Formats: sequence, C-alpha cells, structure tokens
Amino acid sequence: MKNLLEISQLSPHQIQSLLQQAYAFKQGKRADLSQHYAANLFYENSTRTRASFEIAARKLQLPILNLNSENSSEKKGETVEDSLLNLHAMGVNLMIIRHQEEGIQQRLAQRIPGVAIINAGDGVHAHPSQALLDLMTIYEIKPELESLKVAIIGNISHSRVANSFQCIAKSMGIGQLMLIAPPVWHPKTVHYGEVTDSLQQGIEQADVLICLRVQQERLQAEDQLDLSTYRNQYALTRETLKLAKKDAIIMHPGPVNRGVEIDSELVESSQSRILQQVQNGVFMRMAIMHHLLA
Ligand code: CP
Repeated sequence: MKNLLEISQLSPHQIQSLLQQAYAFKQGKRADLSQHYAANLFYENSTRTRASFEIAARKLQLPILNLNSENSSEKKGETVEDSLLNLHAMGVNLMIIRHQEEGIQQRLAQRIPGVAIINAGDGVHAHPSQALLDLMTIYEIKPELESLKVAIIGNISHSRVANSFQCIAKSMGIGQLMLIAPPVWHPKTVHYGEVTDSLQQGIEQADVLICLRVQQERLQAEDQLDLSTYRNQYALTRETLKLAKKDAIIMHPGPVNRGVEIDSELVESSQSRILQQVQNGVFMRMAIMHHLLA
C-alpha cells in the first residue's frame, strides 16, 4: 500500500492487518517515524479528522505541518498541485488531504509519485480512514461480523462515510447492511447493502446503528427536505431505538446535529459509541501512517 485513496484498493488481509496494528497501538505499542515529514492539507472544514491525524502523527514522533488553505499561496493563484510539489521539495513525504473535489487525491498521487497520500475525504466520494475506524469500533464490541445487521440512517446520497462503509462492509463480510433514507436521498450507486425508505424495516433487530448528519452544505434545490419532516420520520429517538436489538450500539461519524438526526439523550446514552469511534480514530490513523511510511 503506497497511498490510502479508497477502501476498494485494500484486500481483506490488508484491512485485518491495519486493525491488528491499530489495536496494538491502542495497547501501547510505540513507533518512531521521526525521519519523515507529514502535512495536513484540509480544504474543507474538519475537527475530528484533522486533529486525529495530527495527534496520531505526534504519537508516532512524526513531525507534521498543518496548512490552512485560507492563508496559503493558493490565495495568490497557486494550484494545489504546485503547492504539493513545493512541499515535497522541502521534504514532506506524507500528505493528508481533504478536498471538495472528488478524485483529486488520486490525480495528485499520480502526479507526485514520491509522496504517500491519504484521502481524508473527497466531496461525496470516499472517507477511507473513517470506514476503518468505524470497523475497528464495531469489531471491538461485536466481532462476529458475518452475523451482524448494520443500519446506516440519513443523508446517504451525500455521504462519503456511507460510501466507504459499504465498501468495507462488503470486503469484510458484514452479514446485512441496510441503507435507510428518504427516497430523495437514496444513493445513486450502491456498493453493498439494501436500500429502504422505511426506518422501521431498516433498524428492526439491528446490532449497529450508524446515524448520519444532514449535510445542508451539499444539498441542491432538488434534494432539499424539510428538516422537521425528516426528523419525524427518520430521527433516532428513544422510541425508534426500541426497534433495534436491546444491546444495539449507536455510532455517528460526527459532527452531530443534536435534536435533528439523533436525540441528545441517545448521544449521551450507554449504548452510544460515538466517542469510542473518535478515540479509535487516533489509533487507526497511527496504523495507516505507520503502514505507509515504516
Ligand atoms: N468524521 C469526520 O470526518 O469529522 P470531521 O469533519 O470533523 O473531520
């Protein structure tokens, strides 16, 4: 593995190996990547992913730069590609890139083969490190993947998280995956799973519930939906949670809009694994960077 661009490039064996490495880091394994240099390049907002990669790098003794597109020379007309070529010339050999343009990391990886590139989210296409940390969290609590029913609920057509999760669920043999959304947010392409507009059918007896944020910033005129209608039909509440298994776990990639896609009391409940996902994200990102550089 030279870059991490999307889940479909990974074999089940490589995914297993990243999981094992991430659990080892969680248990205290150490590594020294101090001879390398990394850069976080985020052209879209982020709290979790950017901080998580930075903390993961620091735990690996990997020096990391945080570049903000607002203050960079791209404001003076430099292309993203030229910025990366310059950083590479200074010695940066790992770049973590989030961008609104789908596939940009793939193009940059071909253009600058001497740099390892991690896709930290490209438009509505892919978010592979999120899928890996989601799988790590599920596997930690419910390791019998082939017997699980997992439900993803929400704005699926605009979700790179849902896309990458479908790919990892297919690769790792998760038994049943339900993609629950109002018809206007059904995915155009399904990598794995069954699409339904019925919350009841989708989450009945589910083991894992993954709630998605309504991505207002990506909605076009034709896929706008009244939020109170959405909430009435699709929100995860104490009542709708009763449809799932009693020991179902609640996940969310964040950022959470409390009181929209999920009630605040469920975010805080004992079934919530939302902060465990965030914690695992650091260890999974250590495993990814270690795999690419060591
Ligand atoms: N899950 C996730 O990608 O969160 P951020 O947008 O805060 O990075």
